[in-house]
Amino acid sequence: MSGLIAPHGGSLVNCVVTGAEADKLRKEAEGLKRIDLTAKQSCDLEMIGIGAFSPLNGFMGKADFESVCKSMTLASGDIWPIPILLSVDKADAPAVGDRVALYAPNGVLQGLMTVEEVYAHDKKLEIPNVFRTEDSAHPGVKQVQDEGDTCLAGPVQVVTVCVDPEGPEAFLDHRKTPAETREIFSSRGWSTVAAFQTRNPIHRAHEYLCKCAQEICDGLLIHPLVGETKPGDIPAAVRMDCYNVLIENYFVPDRTCLTVMPAAMRYAGPREAVLHALIRKNYGVTHFIVGRDHAGVGDYYGTYDAQNIFNDLDKANLAIEPLKFEHAAWSNKAQGMVSGKTFPKLEGDQIFLSGTKVREMLGKGERPPAEFSRPEVADVLIKWATSAN
Ligand code: ADX
Repeated sequence: MSGLIAPHGGSLVNCVVTGAEADKLRKEAEGLKRIDLTAKQSCDLEMIGIGAFSPLNGFMGKADFESVCKSMTLASGDIWPIPILLSVDKADAPAVGDRVALYAPNGVLQGLMTVEEVYAHDKKLEIPNVFRTEDSAHPGVKQVQDEGDTCLAGPVQVVTVCVDPEGPEAFLDHRKTPAETREIFSSRGWSTVAAFQTRNPIHRAHEYLCKCAQEICDGLLIHPLVGETKPGDIPAAVRMDCYNVLIENYFVPDRTCLTVMPAAMRYAGPREAVLHALIRKNYGVTHFIVGRDHAGVGDYYGTYDAQNIFNDLDKANLAIEPLKFEHAAWSNKAQGMVSGKTFPKLEGDQIFLSGTKVREMLGKGERPPAEFSRPEVADVLIKWATSAN
């Protein structure tokens, strides 16, 4: 692993327990208090377990929570932008010192935890700091508002990494841990790797960002988020078909790697961009693509807020380099993808399509123009949009 970027906090956490040790924990869990995780908590537990949230080895205690909200750092001083909490209703809270069993929403035993702290969930501190709004119409805000009023903190042991291995969103061939992607990068001889975070199919603008990054790095990790997303976002299984067909037809396989990231979306814009970057650092990535309105929703964030937030961060502690891209689109005059940095704005020259317009076209079986989406990708989306849903 030497030669690759160091994980955040210095070493890669691994809370996954296997074999006889895991069997012992499963047995122990039978006699423990049961905590039923939400989809977001279940995603977070997987992320902690596999080391994608290094240096976290469990759900956050109060000192980390407050420091993260107020100053975007853990109590240790390491940058961390979003609390990772296990909140429950007060009536269900175990006592400090208890061991508890953590169950995924589908009823599978996912892990165990030693409760080191029980404290009040200060949503008045969390919500405005993390989301820059307290509007319940914001899906990330609403989610926190609906969470429990009491946080449990402590180290975890994960006995099941992928809780639904037979399900359509298991992607077992692509579900690589940070240790595994680091192995892949080393074996391919990549020392600089750019990561592309996405929760959408890859359209031409996304592809343009990826290709610009490929020009300056040894390799590209296409790293879609496949954890919980909001209703209305395109299902991960459909997106994976889009990524595969795109890579097959338009990317150089030796320079491109596709694996999935099992995190939940928060739609926290700027702060989530920082979280997305730190996670990728743990996966062994050196450069992280941040385009327009990264991890945004509605019009809660300015177009480049998620880029500007990086300006004030301690570069040495961040270590991963943000690759900032302006809004990109196809230009008829230039006959290629452009941004405000590379081509003058001409009236009516660029092709912009809203998400709503694209969904409308797909639903009617119409392909969006090839300047917006590769035809092979459009075909996958049309098949999905016009099938029985
Ligand atoms: S996100 O929630 O994962 O950010 P999305 O999948 O739409 O949503 O975006 C993936 C990445 O591409 C983000 O870094 C985003 O800022 C960037 N991006 C999306 N569309 C454009 C565009 N037209 N121009 C520049 N960057 C873009």
